[in-house]
Amino acid sequence: MHMALTADRPLTPEQFRAHFPIFQDKAHLCSCSEGALSDRVIVAMSEFMTSWRVHGAPWHEWMDYVDIARQRFAALIHAEPQDIAVVSCASEAAYHVASTLSYQERNGILTNDLEFPSVAHVWLAQAERGAKVDFVAHREGVITAEDYIAGLRDDQALVSVPLVSYANGLRLPVREIADAAHAKGLRVFVDAYQGAGVMPADVRELDCDYLACGTLKYLLGAPGIAFLYVRPGLALPVDPPLTGWFARREPFAFNPRLLDYAEDARRFQTGTPAIPAAFAGAAGLSLILETDPGQNLEHVLNLGDYLQEEFLSAGVALFSPREHSRRGPQVSVLAQDAEELGAFLAERGVLVSPRGHAIRISLHYYNNLDDARRVVEGVLEYRKGHAL
Ligand SMILES: Cc1ncc(COP(=O)(O)O)c(C=O)c1O
Repeated sequence: MHMALTADRPLTPEQFRAHFPIFQDKAHLCSCSEGALSDRVIVAMSEFMTSWRVHGAPWHEWMDYVDIARQRFAALIHAEPQDIAVVSCASEAAYHVASTLSYQERNGILTNDLEFPSVAHVWLAQAERGAKVDFVAHREGVITAEDYIAGLRDDQALVSVPLVSYANGLRLPVREIADAAHAKGLRVFVDAYQGAGVMPADVRELDCDYLACGTLKYLLGAPGIAFLYVRPGLALPVDPPLTGWFARREPFAFNPRLLDYAEDARRFQTGTPAIPAAFAGAAGLSLILETDPGQNLEHVLNLGDYLQEEFLSAGVALFSPREHSRRGPQVSVLAQDAEELGAFLAERGVLVSPRGHAIRISLHYYNNLDDARRVVEGVLEYRKGHAL
């Protein structure tokens, strides 16, 4: 298992791609749904199986992997490992944030219509505790900093801003929104799931109070674990109501009468973490840490430029934003029957992610121009026999 926490000499896109066997026959363009499987994750998963087979119950070794995953995620977002809780999914991370606010003097939460639904649902479910949720609307898939800032009020507790929207790859101006929100005394939550791994997600630069991200998409791990970064020193009006032994100061004290909370972000943890996902996540993150986030973003924006130009010049309508400054690692094509178009492309070895009225073509550092050409050809071929 590689232990490097920084990329002194980042991998080239070709070196990176060589770690992913799927590219031998497929154009994997669906990292927004699930990242491609790397040779390192294959090895890590078999290490997990072997350790189980040979040692029976090697909890110490397994928990080390959870910590390695935590450390690597911390390195990626420029945080300290103790400021990161290992949780099961982004919804749980959002729940920890929502459930530890009080909604007394400040009861508002500001989110947006391109937020991942389950995160927005966690905010909505706080209505019972007095929270009032407002949504910033999008205009043809775009939400600007001004749109968000116009929705900020002094009686709000939290603003929720995804780094990139799952719906169409819109990159949001998190820092601008965070500055305005902090000036009004709000806390800032960032769902980095659709960006971290393929673009910078530095909590110092974003200046966010919370950041959530799971490992299964651009971080190239498996489903099962996610991380919640919490700004050090942030006071909690309410102790986490969803808790368990991994949130205790001494998890191995086994005292059922003592409900103490770890002083660091571990206070947001609950029970036994998903160990196989920790192995996979640590391995996926090891590859990501051998790349440079700024270079990754440039790479996917260049491929996105190619896709956008080809589609627009062929008269194909897009849901993703046109401007470089707003586009993330995704170009999405509007389609009347996105599932059917997705299946048509999959039959030709081109894997995209249908969602609602569009197919999401997502780009990672491993994708190349050949993948981009294949998806353009496939979409244009489909259009010969079907309405888009
Ligand atoms: C932006 C974003 N947030 C969160 C999730 C997933 O949330 P959870 O980990 O709760 O399933 C996804 C995709 O599945 C996503 O695209």
